[in-house]
Amino acid sequence: MTYARSGYLPDHNTMDQNRLWVMNTRTGFIGYGSMGSMIVQGLLDKACLQPCNVLVSTRHPASLTPLIDKYPFVKVAKNNRALVRECNRVFLCTKPLDAVHVLSEIAGDLNPDTHLVSIAACLPIEQIARFFPGAITRVVPSLTAEMNSGVTLLCHNSGVSPGAAQEIEALFGALGNVMVIDEGNFEVGTDLTSCGPALIAVLIEEFARAAARTSTLTLEQARALVIPTLSGTARLLDERGFTIETILRRVATPGGITEEGAKLLQSEMPGVYDTLIQQTLTKHGLVKTTVRNEADRLLDRKP
Ligand SMILES: NC(=O)c1ccc[n+]([C@@H]2O[C@H](COP(=O)([O-])OP(=O)(O)OC[C@H]3O[C@@H](n4cnc5c(N)ncnc54)[C@H](OP(=O)(O)O)[C@@H]3O)[C@@H](O)[C@H]2O)c1
Repeated sequence: MTYARSGYLPDHNTMDQNRLWVMNTRTGFIGYGSMGSMIVQGLLDKACLQPCNVLVSTRHPASLTPLIDKYPFVKVAKNNRALVRECNRVFLCTKPLDAVHVLSEIAGDLNPDTHLVSIAACLPIEQIARFFPGAITRVVPSLTAEMNSGVTLLCHNSGVSPGAAQEIEALFGALGNVMVIDEGNFEVGTDLTSCGPALIAVLIEEFARAAARTSTLTLEQARALVIPTLSGTARLLDERGFTIETILRRVATPGGITEEGAKLLQSEMPGVYDTLIQQTLTKHGLVKTTVRNEADRLLDRKP
């Protein structure tokens, strides 16, 4: 099933932030962990949401103290059901298995024209729709949004109006770039964006460790050499508009030393990355099955 509109990457700096202010939408967030807190704080800090229009509900409300200290007008909901009754846009920011339990809990209280935005991995729109047959957007955030960088992936179902889709894309656009893609590509896209920071961190670390093994550089020194190099390379690509080919042409000159390393990576890495993507896809499939089975169990239990 295809929900996606054509993919694009708007420049988040050109987003019309003022437009976001005029929204009177009551936005609720269920779950305030690593991603939920990043999204809530990011949107409040950027004044994309008015604190008095934000409600939060989480399992252990003590974690909300710093948020409420900073934004006293943010409301802590009594529970998830009370939150959804007051909101017309709800972000579901829990782990996938918790998400199906939350869906089962709130299904009867969701306003039929609420826009439900789920960031839960491995929980496809069709599974969410079994609990709530309304407007659903699925989102893959990335830790890089903490730096107003990286890409948030989104796809909407047919219940999401063009205006609501634009609003949610603009919100995430305030935290970095956004790309609307076909839900069928979410898993591979997740590898590149949301798993990306961890996978790239491993690459940096292994590069630094190899250097430390073969020299008198300490691991810390090797990291201090490679991390700014990664950051500078990303900026050349992202900000200066360099292409991969330009960088290779400028650095890996034919017959030179860098070319030796580049050739090795070009020969070894396709296999490594093919295996990586296969293994993560397999894991996605396993988690999706567990989540679907739990959804079956919860829905079967209902009268
Ligand atoms: N981490 C990433 O980089 C990343 C990237 C993309 C997508 N995701 C997806 O984003 C989702 C959240 O990930 P995360 O890393 O933010 O997880 P997390 O840090 O474990 O946060 C989950 C939050 O959900 C709360 N919660 C659990 N059950 C709840 C319930 N019944 N009612 C209300 N709140 C409940 C937890 O509360 P307590 O802490 O009090 O238990 C916690 O605040 C996951 O589905 C994940 O797949 C994560």
